[in-house]
Formats: sequence, C-alpha cells, structure tokens
Amino acid sequence: MPAILAKSNALALHGGPMAKPTPYGTGKRFGNEEKRQLSEAIDQQTLFYAQGKKTKEFRERFAARYGVKHCVTCTSGTAAIHIALAACGIKPGDEVITASITDIGTCSAILLCGAIPVFADLDPRTYTIDPASVTARVGPKTAAIVAVHLTGAPCDMDALKQIAKKHDLWLVEDCAQAYHTEYKRQLGGTLGDIGCFSLNDFKHISAGDAGMVITHDAELAHRAELFADKCYDRSPGAPRNPFFVAPNYRMCELHAAVALAQLEKLDSIIARRRRYGDRLNEGLQNLPGILPQKFVEGGRGSYWFGMFRIEPKVLGPRAKFVEALTAEGVSASDGYVDRATYLYDVFTKKQGFGGTDFPFSLAPHIEYKPGLCPNAEAIVADCVKVPVSEFFTDQDLEQTVAGIRKVAEHFANPNR
Ligand SMILES: Cc1ncc(COP(=O)(O)O)c(C=O)c1O
Repeated sequence: MPAILAKSNALALHGGPMAKPTPYGTGKRFGNEEKRQLSEAIDQQTLFYAQGKKTKEFRERFAARYGVKHCVTCTSGTAAIHIALAACGIKPGDEVITASITDIGTCSAILLCGAIPVFADLDPRTYTIDPASVTARVGPKTAAIVAVHLTGAPCDMDALKQIAKKHDLWLVEDCAQAYHTEYKRQLGGTLGDIGCFSLNDFKHISAGDAGMVITHDAELAHRAELFADKCYDRSPGAPRNPFFVAPNYRMCELHAAVALAQLEKLDSIIARRRRYGDRLNEGLQNLPGILPQKFVEGGRGSYWFGMFRIEPKVLGPRAKFVEALTAEGVSASDGYVDRATYLYDVFTKKQGFGGTDFPFSLAPHIEYKPGLCPNAEAIVADCVKVPVSEFFTDQDLEQTVAGIRKVAEHFANPNR
C-alpha cells in the first residue's frame, strides 16, 4: 500500500507510521572511573593478582555484595564454571545435568572436566531448567547440576536444592546472565554450593573478559583458588608443590581494576534494566498470540535481555512478525539461539578432545538428538528476543510496547 494511503494504524511494513520512529538510547559503559582504576593498577608496577591490590579489593567487594565469604577471580565465565566443577571434584565420566538452552561455555566447562553434559528440558514460560526433567535425568553417574539463570531469570532453586540433596549432587549456579537475580529475596549465586559469573563484554558489567566464583564454603574456595592458578598455593609459607592438574585461569590487575569501577555501577544498571524489563513484560500482557516471560514463584529477573514467545497459530510465522517489528523501528530478533544446545555439532557428532570422541565415549548411552527436550526446541522456534539496556529511556519502552502491541493486534486480526 503506498504510504500516502496508509491508515494511521497500518503496519510500517505496509507504509504506515512507525511505532518507534526515534533511535534507542545509548551511552558510555566505560569512563573516567575505569581510567582512574587502570591508572592506579599500572602505578603499582605489578599486574599480578597475588601482588597487586585491585584483584584483592574486587574479590572482597564482590563477596561482600553477595554476602558470601569467598570470591575467586578468573579469566571468563567458562573458566568460572570449570573451576567450580573442578572444586566440586567432578571427574571424567561423571554426568552433569544442565539447561538445554545455554551458552556453549556452560557445556565446555563440563566437558573440560571430562564429564558428560546431560540436558534437561526447560519450563516453557520461565525458560529455566524444569526440576521434573532434572529428576528424570538423574542416574547413577550424575554428580552435579549446573542451573543456568537464563536471561537473568532465576531457576526454581528450592526444587533444585531438594533434588541435589536427595541424590547427593553438587548444585552449581551459572549466573553469567544473572547479576542480582533474586530468588525468594536471596541472590542467585548464593543458593547452591557455588555460583559462577562472567565479566565478558556483553554482560551487565564488563572487564572485557573475566569471571568469578563465589561460595560460602572454605574448602570449595580453597580448591577453586588452587585450580585457577596451576595448583600453586600462594598463601604465605605454603610449599610450592602442585598436586593435581590445573590450568592458569588467573585474572590480572587490569581486569580487576576495570571490574572494580564497573561494580560501582551495578546497582544502577540493575535498577534501570529491571524497571524497563518489568514494564515491558507488563505491557505485553493480554495480547493475542503473545506469551510474556514469567518468573518462578519468588523470582525477580535482572534482564540481561528480554524474551517472549509468540503463538504462530495466532500470529503467523515468527520471521514475518520480527520483520514487521523491525519495520516499526522496534529492536527484535528471532530468539536467543538458533538451536537447543545439544544440537550443536560438538554433541550430535560427539566431537571431543583432539578430534576423538572423549569424553563422550565414557557415556555411550547418552544421545544428543532432536526431540530430546521438546520445550527447549519450541522456545527456540517461537521466541522473540528484545534487547534491554540501562541506557534505554521511558520513551523507548513506551514505543517498544506500542510497536509490539500494534504488530500483534494486526497479525491476530489481519482483516480488521
Ligand atoms: C549462561 C552463560 N554461561 C556461561 C557463559 C560463558 O561466559 P564467558 O563468555 O565469560 O566464558 C555465558 C556467556 O555468554 C553465558 O551466557
């Protein structure tokens, strides 16, 4: 339809006015505070974590913020999960149950222990691991659960804790997407045995790359500390005698300096993202064909990004829906990932270390194939991802909600 004839509520795709004609808010994530911290780190004339002050201070501050006794720093979220699992004593051939939609880093960490990822299905509305599916996957070799708080939405931690207790499993929390995620007024990362964080450049706060492990447990913390640093014990007077195989996952003073500055911004980042994300979810209620994200009872998200599902039966194909949103000026994409994690080649072809099928060869009974986790596959197929940022404005929110509402109403009733 030519623009001149377009009705005011016509889709922008058909020449109507855009619901979001103005660009989304942007801002600087890094500034003078990071520069000051970096400059101080350099002035120390050491960038080594065990000699400088920055890593020590960051660890103390992060642990205090989370109300835990111990924080071990490292090079990435993947390293953090590897360290956590190693500290728990996960060994080759152990099975580790995790979410069927997650970053590959969660699974690389499991495989790096020589352990076998076992994928549990997700709850269709919270996109977090479904405790019933976890229970169904527990077997004689299960040693741990890695609960992924996907999008910043908390898992059903009471149920997972119960399963872990009943079957004597370690409970590791993957909080890479989930700074300040809350479950029944407690912070995600403090509810299981050990919590893992990422400071990669896309997360709520960034040091370029880095990660942390937190725990209440002194013994886990000690093993984590050793594992992150080649099994060198840096405590005063300790003998230099590595007694197990361990990588070098040390975070350096430069990363810690930036992380310290970023930590100061975390409260306001979370508050702004939460306000935006909660209002976005609210604005998408009661729309034909739209299923906004829900949280488990007592859960509060911290919105690394926003996600909702559509019912293609009501709204037609997702690609067309996203195309219409984009034409409206609304930032949206076809979901978070293009497949459930177990459908990556590394799993379907069982491609392990050095081109061999190790460690998959230790668990020939485990198969990775379509249909394994139907909810996860359905989420992948029909979810729409919308960015959330601390720099987005009230106007961004109102126009985004208006755009999604307009497109949903149009596709649900195309002949209005
Ligand atoms: C849920 C989840 N787990 C683990 C990771 C791995 O973190 P990193 O990229 O810092 O290794 C990521 C990163 O995207 C993630 O989103």
